[in-house]
Amino acid sequence: IERTLSIIKPDATRRNLTGKINAKFEDAGLRIVAQKRIHLSPAQAGQFYAVHKERPFYGELVEFMASEPVVVQVLEGENAIAKNREVMGATNPANADAGTIRKEFALSVGENSVHGSDAAETAKEEIAFFFSGLELVG
Ligand code: GTP
Ligand code: MG
Repeated sequence: IERTLSIIKPDATRRNLTGKINAKFEDAGLRIVAQKRIHLSPAQAGQFYAVHKERPFYGELVEFMASEPVVVQVLEGENAIAKNREVMGATNPANADAGTIRKEFALSVGENSVHGSDAAETAKEEIAFFFSGLELVG
């Protein structure tokens, strides 16, 4: 069984879409084993996305992620990392498959409603970034 870090981004929390997005995860067989609503500071958002520091959209991305609260969560299931990315759909909603979260809810390539870890190592790091051992039950 695998775990991945998911973030419901400000464009989605603002539009009250947390429940609809969580239903997509649960329908796909992903279990929400930890979840909280937080408001990232620009410094925290910058640290989380440090891997994108050199990309042209970094400043915009950090500003967006710190603009309003987000919901951070740990999803668990068989192949949770890949399964979550399938349910999320392509980064740009214009390229996302029908039925995916980004196809149904994303506003643009930047305001694309969700984040999901992209590999086992990053999932581990990203979960530890937001959650302590005490917050993670089996
Ligand atoms: P994440 O799950 O969020 O990591 O999405 P991803 O892996 O599909 O995309 P990637 O890691 O390439 O980019 C991270 C995030 O940066 C995306 O989810 C977008 O929110 C944002 N982003 C990517 N490309 C662009 C862009 O061209 N313009 C803007 N404004 N934001 C972008
Ligand atoms: Mg990514």
